[in-house]
Amino acid sequence: MAQKFRKIGVLTSGGDAPGMSAAVRAVTRAANARGVQVMGIIGGYRGMIHDEMIELTNREVSNKIMLSGTFLYSDRCLEFKEEEGMQKAIATLKKHDIDGVIAIGGDGTFRGATDLSVRGIPTIGVPGTIDNDITASDNTIGFNTAMTTVIENVDRLRDTCESHARLNVVEVMGRGAGDITLNTAIASGAVAAVIPEAPFDEEACINKVIRLRREGKRGFLIIVSEAFPTLGEELAKKITAITKDLAEKEGNDRLWVESKFCRLAHTVRGGSPTLADRLLATKMGVRAVDELLAGNSDLIIVERAGEITTCGIRWSQVLDRMYKGTLKPGMTDAYTAEQLAEMEAFIAAKKAEFEKNYAMLNELAD
Ligand code: F6P
Repeated sequence: MAQKFRKIGVLTSGGDAPGMSAAVRAVTRAANARGVQVMGIIGGYRGMIHDEMIELTNREVSNKIMLSGTFLYSDRCLEFKEEEGMQKAIATLKKHDIDGVIAIGGDGTFRGATDLSVRGIPTIGVPGTIDNDITASDNTIGFNTAMTTVIENVDRLRDTCESHARLNVVEVMGRGAGDITLNTAIASGAVAAVIPEAPFDEEACINKVIRLRREGKRGFLIIVSEAFPTLGEELAKKITAITKDLAEKEGNDRLWVESKFCRLAHTVRGGSPTLADRLLATKMGVRAVDELLAGNSDLIIVERAGEITTCGIRWSQVLDRMYKGTLKPGMTDAYTAEQLAEMEAFIAAKKAEFEKNYAMLNELAD
């Protein structure tokens, strides 16, 4: 017989993402509607270890759907990675009679969710990260808002670039994933994107800028992923120097493309969630409650082709590694040849889509 849930915990962990608060609200309202009490665990797994939590009633989550950051606060908790920390966390859950947990965050949060699941605490993960680096899901909570914030800022840089006939190199967050970079480069009409998923031909990029300037283009934007921490600033300096020499050599100062560098850094993580993120957070939060109360565990909620569905956390981790080419021996042993073929086809389709978009950006950037 399926376990009867009376009380569940919800937490947000890892880098905060706009829409996390909306997801907590959805979890709370959905669970309360099913007669299940909800405890909000403060500051991610740290709050679980140190017994910091508040009851989330429906009134407590009023006016939270539009909040930026996470009102439950977040943390990257090293203590939870040790067995001792995990046991303390489990003792806290038992003390409060918490029968299951919903953990909102990225891949680190999901490792914690598996740790709880295998120790007998049913746990469901909800992808909340601006990076969109959970391969199994088309979208993660916060990704849409982060991209919207980037293009708002880049549009402002475009204004001043155009006035002064300058170039701006803009570095954006995303950790090892180029999703924010590539999409915002397309959406802001950038001349190039530098992403971990594709080789960057710096010489060709600079030559393109020079050709376009000769043709009369005034302002330029280049979006660079933070995966290349020094590249953006250096590229701006290089373009400035090369075009200055060229302008002097040809006696034509219009060829000088003065280039500035801007790192958007954590600004990309702030702000009120967009409509798309509020909807995603709400649908995923409700589905997480459904899954937990149906007796499932060690799953994450994902979006595929507009549908909210689930996959195993282990499955999602293997997909991430397949995508990045970081699989280690033995990691796929648990899967049948058929399942592996399904995973490989999924990765191939995702990569093909990325390549298509990258090619489109380069074709239109003229
Ligand atoms: O994972 C979200 C993210 O914002 C990444 O894009 C970035 O690399 C990282 O977190 C920054 O982490 P922190 O907030 O610890 O500086």
